[in-house]
Amino acid sequence: MPMQNVRTTPIEGQKPGTSGLRKKTAVFRRPHFLENYVQAIFDGIGGVVDKTLVVGGDGRFFNDDAVQIILRMASANGAAKCIVGQGGILSTPAASHMIRLRNADGGLILSASHNPGGADADFGLKYNGPNGGPASEAVTDKIYERTKTLDLYRIVAASDIDLGALGEQSVAGMRVEIVDPVADYAALMQTIVDFDKIRALFAGGFTMCFDAMHAVTGPYAHAILEGMLGAPKGTVINGIPSPDFGKGHPDPNPIWAKTLMDKMYGPGAPDFGAASDGDGDRNMIVGRGAYVTPSDSLALLTAKAHLAPAYRGGLAGVARSMPTSRAVDRVADSLGIDCFETPTGWKFFGNLLDAGKVTLCGEESAGTGSDHVREKDGLWAVLLWLNILAETGQSVSDLMADMWKTHGRCYYARHDYEDVESAPAQDMMDALPGKLATLAGTTIGGMTVSEADEFAYLDPVDGSKSTGQGIRINFEGGARAVFRLSGTGTQGATIRLYLEQLVTDPDRLMDDPEQVLAAVRDAALALSDLQALTGRDAPDVIT
Ligand code: G6P
Ligand code: ZN
Repeated sequence: MPMQNVRTTPIEGQKPGTSGLRKKTAVFRRPHFLENYVQAIFDGIGGVVDKTLVVGGDGRFFNDDAVQIILRMASANGAAKCIVGQGGILSTPAASHMIRLRNADGGLILSASHNPGGADADFGLKYNGPNGGPASEAVTDKIYERTKTLDLYRIVAASDIDLGALGEQSVAGMRVEIVDPVADYAALMQTIVDFDKIRALFAGGFTMCFDAMHAVTGPYAHAILEGMLGAPKGTVINGIPSPDFGKGHPDPNPIWAKTLMDKMYGPGAPDFGAASDGDGDRNMIVGRGAYVTPSDSLALLTAKAHLAPAYRGGLAGVARSMPTSRAVDRVADSLGIDCFETPTGWKFFGNLLDAGKVTLCGEESAGTGSDHVREKDGLWAVLLWLNILAETGQSVSDLMADMWKTHGRCYYARHDYEDVESAPAQDMMDALPGKLATLAGTTIGGMTVSEADEFAYLDPVDGSKSTGQGIRINFEGGARAVFRLSGTGTQGATIRLYLEQLVTDPDRLMDDPEQVLAAVRDAALALSDLQALTGRDAPDVIT
């Protein structure tokens, strides 16, 4: 089969963000766009000659075509083998596990995560390294540098392979193994949580609703929850993946998972509700009438993980991204284990997990995970919750109330200002560091700033430094405001304002979060001048 060296020129805007390269699908489908980026990945990681790569995605529009192109390019670049999920499907955590299980040299994951899919929506591509985790900044920098000098890419002129046929095929001499996307992942879960206990829970009449949001976790949840764990049929809703996610927005939060929220807050609500995102790495947890913030979920899992077989010996440590609430810090403190604060982006947990410094980690953006893979893992979080519910016999709301009683409650909300014009958003972020030096001690609307800084991270494992990772403003009395620009958007800029207020007064643990957070919100808006600079008087999404 002929190998072609295709002449190309660098394409602007191929800088990977928080989680790989995300663009409008139409941009990815422009001539050479995908090919250039794939070649830059291959070159940026030092070539793929004789390497084995895992390839799969969340099944969104363009997934299959992109997989075929990647396979033809891997073949032309001399890869030995690609392991591909059947139908081009692999959830992000399942891909991470596959890379580790098969000792692959890395993987290409096709997804724009929780962003909508379709011809007029979003697409994405991410490279994960041999540890199964997203590439480090050092590697993504090399990939980006390569996108700026690329003048050719390699591709073979082979015909499409049959992505549906399990087993071995070949693309111009490169072996391709099509694997069941669910089986190995399900087997891994059985080594972590107590399937017998959870099976008994369901057998005893425990009810659950899992919203797969028309995305990749459908097949996984059907197989594991309804198949292996015996949850009644119908426990999984929206369980058939569709290329445009049923025209929905597959982001598991109270706004986008409204169907589930309505069920959980309505009459006859099940005992437990959960949802996952486009590529299966995020999770949302909700009890009967009791939404659990991702930050609180991480804290609860940290407190109770020892109830699951994999964590019986305790946790080495935990980590959270900087904007994630400090609830987990308080639990970690009481357990006498380390709690690391990293920049936003799962890649920053990789070194800590590899070095055995942390066992669990999580983010405010609905990501929770452990050292079983190197990605966040939506279904894993749901299964660990089920294990804890089965062991304690308590409801979600009772578990949360107990935790708040013991550790205090970190009221929390994230305000997103989406698709703001890039220039004023950047101006606001650029102006903030200059204000920080004089902020400490000042009082704004009754809130006194105790300290303020721009977050920088020194990786304790490899000594690498990441600067400019968001503005932190702490107030006296346990409040905090954080400003960041999102690194995952595909249009304009998204300003994220994260608000937190610790309350330890036992009589104020069940208040309305919006009211509790109003003072810190007003102070943050005043000192940033956000509304005047962006012309926005309210956030687009509050989660
Ligand atoms: C992805 C990343 C997460 C990150 C989230 C939000 O899901 O894997 O690590 O927290 O995006 O990132 P952003 O830069 O948009 O706030
Ligand atoms: Zn995701």
